[in-house]
Amino acid sequence: MAKSKNIFFCQECGYESAKWLGQCPACKAWNAFVEEPTIGKGSTASGGIRHQAKASEPVLLSSVHSSDEKRRPTGISEFDRVLGGGIVPGSLVLVGGDPGIGKSTLLLQMSRCLSEQSCRTVYVSGEESLQQIRLRADRLGVFKNDLAMLCETNLDVIQETILKYKPEVVIIDSIQTMYREDISSGAGSVSQVREATSVLMQLAKRENIAIFIVGHVTKEGVVAGPRVLEHMVDTVLYFEGDRHASYRLLRAVKNRFGSTNEIGVFEMCSEGLTEVKNPSEFMLSGRPEGTAGSVVACAMEGTRPLMLEVQALVCQTNFQIPRRTAAGTDYNRVNLLLAVLEKRLGLKLAGCDAYINLAGGMRLNEPAIDLAIVAAVISSYRNAAVESDTMIFGEVGLTGEVRAVSQAEQRVREAEKLGFKVCCIPQSNMKYIRSKAGIRVIGIRNVKDLYDFIC
Ligand code: TYD
Ligand code: MG
Repeated sequence: MAKSKNIFFCQECGYESAKWLGQCPACKAWNAFVEEPTIGKGSTASGGIRHQAKASEPVLLSSVHSSDEKRRPTGISEFDRVLGGGIVPGSLVLVGGDPGIGKSTLLLQMSRCLSEQSCRTVYVSGEESLQQIRLRADRLGVFKNDLAMLCETNLDVIQETILKYKPEVVIIDSIQTMYREDISSGAGSVSQVREATSVLMQLAKRENIAIFIVGHVTKEGVVAGPRVLEHMVDTVLYFEGDRHASYRLLRAVKNRFGSTNEIGVFEMCSEGLTEVKNPSEFMLSGRPEGTAGSVVACAMEGTRPLMLEVQALVCQTNFQIPRRTAAGTDYNRVNLLLAVLEKRLGLKLAGCDAYINLAGGMRLNEPAIDLAIVAAVISSYRNAAVESDTMIFGEVGLTGEVRAVSQAEQRVREAEKLGFKVCCIPQSNMKYIRSKAGIRVIGIRNVKDLYDFIC
C-alpha cells in the first residue's frame, strides 16, 4: 500500500513545498504554510475511478456554435456589466472578498432577480441557517417568486441534490465551508477547497449549470484563500471597498467570457445593495470646495469614466527622513512624481512630509491621475486652491513632460456632464477633442505649465 505523505501548502496561493517555509516564494505571504496530507494519485474528483482513455476527434472551429446569445441577465445591471453581459451557462464564477463586505447579500439579491425571471436557482449556504437567510431576505424586501435554499456542507450531498433538482444557477456560500468525506483534512484547507472546486467545475461543465462560488479573503490564514482556486475557475470577481464607507466595487480580475476592465459600483444601504448608476457623482459628493490640496481627476474603469478627488497634504517635516504616504495609489509612483517636482520646479519637497490620498477609499494605479496628484501637491505646497470646477488628468514623465492618455474625449465629456467648467489635459490630446463648447479645455505641456495655471 502506498504510504500517505504529508506536504506543506501555502494557504494564500496554494504553493506546494516538501518542507515548511516561513515565507511563500510565490505570493510572498508570511507564515501561511500548513501541513496537509496529499491526495493520492489514484483518487480523482470522480471518486478514484479512472476512465479508460479513448481517442477523441478534433472539431472544426467553424462548426462550434457560439453560446453568447444564451447569456442570462442577472437583473442587476452593474453585475451584468462586470460579468461581460450576463451569466454564461456552464460557467464557474468565483466571488471573493473580505468577510462582511456583502458577498452573500449580493448573491442573494441576484438569486431574487433570477427567481423573478423564473430561472431555477439554488442557494446553498454552509455558513448560515435557513432562519438567518430568511432574516436577511426580509431585510432585502419582497421575494416575488420562491427561491430554493439548501443548508449543507457535504459536497456529495450537494452534488446529488443539484443533479436531482436540475437548476440553471447554483450559489455556493462559501467554498471554505464545503468538504468531501474522502479527504482527511478539514474544511477550508487547501486540499478541500481545491477538490471541492474541481467537483463543482465538472458539475458546471457536464450539466451546463452556472455556479457562483463565494470565497473569503483571509488575513489570518485560518482557511485557504480564494487565490488557491483562481486558476481553476472561469471568472474571478472581487468585491471590495472600505468597510467604513458605504460604497462597494465589484471588479473582474479574470474573465474568460468578457473584459476584466469593467467595475460595478454598489452602495450598501439598510435594505441591501443598490446600484450606483453614476459613480462619478457619487465619488465627488461631499468634496471640500476652494481648499488647497484637493483636485478632481478622471480615471477610466473599462469603458466608463470615473471622476474622483485626489488629496495631498504637504507640510514641514519634523523627521530626519520626510514621511510619504500614498493611500489608494502606488507609493513609488508618488515618490517619483515628488522627485520630478523637486528637480523640474525646484520645490523644496525634501524638507516636507507629503501625504497623498484618493478620497473615498478608491484604489487606482492609472498613470492618467499623475497630473492631478502633481496639481494637488503644488496646490498644498503653495497653499493655492485649485478652482472646484476644474478637472485635471494626464500622465507625467520623468522630465516633467505631460504625456497623452487614452480616451481623453470621453473624460472631458464626463466632466462637462457633471457641470465642470475647466479641463486641464495633455497638450498632445488637444487635437482629439472635437467639440470644446460648454467647457474650457487647456492643453498642458509640462509641469511648469501646470504650476503657472495653479499659482
Ligand atoms: P454579508 O453579505 O453577510 O457579507 P459577506 O457574505 O461578504 O461576509 O454582508 C454583511 C454586512 O452587510 C453586514 O455588516 C451588514 C451589512 N448589511 C447592510 O448594511 N444592509 C443590508 O441590507 C444587509 C443584508 C447587510
Ligand atoms: Mg456571507
